[in-house]
Amino acid sequence: MFKFGIHKREQLTPDHLEGFFRARKFIALDLYNALDDYPPGDRDRIQGRMLRRFSNQNGTFKNTYVRRFEDFDILAANSVRSAFPANREIRVHDIGASDGRTSCAFYDTLSGIYGPRLKFVASDYAPFLYVVRRKNSTRRVIVDERENILQIITPPFVFNVIHPEKKLLYPFNHFIRYFVNRRYARPLMLAYKAGERDVERSRVDLLCYECRANCASKDNFRFISYDIFSPPTERFDVIRAMNVLNLIYFSREDLMKAVTNIFLSLEEGGLFITGSNLEAGTRVNGGIYKKSGGRLEKLEGSGNGSQVDDLIQAIRDTPGETGCDAYEEQEAGALKHTKEYSASTPGWRKAGAKS
Ligand SMILES: C[S@@+](CC[C@H](N)C(=O)[O-])C[C@H]1O[C@@H](n2cnc3c(N)ncnc32)[C@H](O)[C@@H]1O
Repeated sequence: MFKFGIHKREQLTPDHLEGFFRARKFIALDLYNALDDYPPGDRDRIQGRMLRRFSNQNGTFKNTYVRRFEDFDILAANSVRSAFPANREIRVHDIGASDGRTSCAFYDTLSGIYGPRLKFVASDYAPFLYVVRRKNSTRRVIVDERENILQIITPPFVFNVIHPEKKLLYPFNHFIRYFVNRRYARPLMLAYKAGERDVERSRVDLLCYECRANCASKDNFRFISYDIFSPPTERFDVIRAMNVLNLIYFSREDLMKAVTNIFLSLEEGGLFITGSNLEAGTRVNGGIYKKSGGRLEKLEGSGNGSQVDDLIQAIRDTPGETGCDAYEEQEAGALKHTKEYSASTPGWRKAGAKS
């Protein structure tokens, strides 16, 4: 059986969005910001669909939802308010934020408490993608910053490269994707790298409307590209990591490295908020921890607790145990090199404005 994809803006309608037998069609990621003039509910729904089946080169999914964990946000905000008086400056980092929609909700809640004293950073591993194509061609590929091919668009098909359709259900798609990857996508990338003049590249900001609006208009909101496995160079009072520290994504060894980086990036007395859930409004299995006396002490639990609770509670800032001290000395200073995007970054335009 064949499955076609959504490859042009005119197809972003309910009629087009479902395939045969309501099979979910893949949607070209460069249509992500073509939805600014849609009603907010439709825009959220379609962008949610775009991200649900789309995966990074490291195999993690970018799925996220409006109002994904409202109750847990309330619990988290109450803990933050108890730990930090409303009249002081507070620095918050939301890691693995996908398109930033859950970050914006958390930012709004904390803004209500701290106002301009809140300094908020949201980050993700791959928030900025690129479209590479030959001039005037409708065929194109979507690549990440490291030039890994993530999606191939060759109308009427849209192929996700990392988690494609199931081979048994869609054997023709599987065959065509294999062929198109070898004969079109890889040669196109070689031509791009060789600097061929008719191959062009443009950026796609995979950030939701509110997130782009916040970046463009709020001095205390930034979005950066950050890999949780790279050492931190900024310190925060609150770090949140939702739906990213998951055992289906990473090994326990890797998760320990990520938790160690978070620990090193937290100020003494700072809070680490983490958890995982399914779709919007489902129960969060997570916890809230306080950095105190060289460890992370559990303050609150939710549902069954965090998948990495034992790793979090095993952290000790003692050389010879987790090696945090040595790690800190060796690695200090690296987020200086992390790319940052904010209201002052060239290329930003106010969300909704025509480019
Ligand atoms: C399932 S989404 C969760 C998004 C949002 N936090 C939420 O809960 O709705 C997981 C996110 O983690 C990001 N991610 C994956 N690997 C990462 C890494 N090594 N460093 C930082 N973020 C990562 C992915 O890009 C993706 O956007």
